[in-house]
Amino acid sequence: MKFFVDTANLDQIREAHDLGVLDGVTTNPSLMAKEGITGKDKILKHYVDICEIVDGDVSAEVISTDFEGMVKEGEMLASLHKNIVVKVPMIKDGVKALKYFSDNGIRTNCTLIFSAGQALLAAKAGANYVSPFMGRIDDISWDGVDLIDQIVEIYANYDFETEVLAASIRSPLHIVKCAEIGADVVTCPLKSIMGLLNHPLTDNGLAKFLADYEKGNA
Ligand code: G3P
Repeated sequence: MKFFVDTANLDQIREAHDLGVLDGVTTNPSLMAKEGITGKDKILKHYVDICEIVDGDVSAEVISTDFEGMVKEGEMLASLHKNIVVKVPMIKDGVKALKYFSDNGIRTNCTLIFSAGQALLAAKAGANYVSPFMGRIDDISWDGVDLIDQIVEIYANYDFETEVLAASIRSPLHIVKCAEIGADVVTCPLKSIMGLLNHPLTDNGLAKFLADYEKGNA
């Protein structure tokens, strides 16, 4: 299972990278705005800065919503760095753009996936990744884990190569549930990855080991 961080914060990306478990990064316009990255030049430079930290896929999202605009923007984003994966929204022109990019050797991540049907369409169009937003599904009292499970099953039925990138992860438990059902990738806030570390019995056990060592070696 690949671990991506879902942030445009360079310190958090470096921290995840230094932990040694980082396989990639996803960003979106909201995450860029949260870091105060605005204006085309600053945004493009920021993508390159991220790519220089991470030896893995970095999703950069198009802003255009028409086919020609998405193609032009996606080609420009892909030319920035070999790690860039063009993130395309699940809309009609987005599906056409996914097919175009797939035919032209540009890797893609289809975002804003909320149903298995959308994930099927994205895979048919040749997306490299689909991003179902499990937290936002949970927010409306549906089951995000069920959605990931359905997509994993459909892709396995037909040997689609599209990878299931579980997004909108809100907790360490989401990560574990995704691992149980075979999601290819999770993209999460750093705190959800760090949350996997925690267990009180580990802390208690380590304290006891160290105390016993001190007793014997004082
Ligand atoms: O990758 C998608 C993600 O950024 C959305 O997360 O927490 O805003 O639903 P959230």
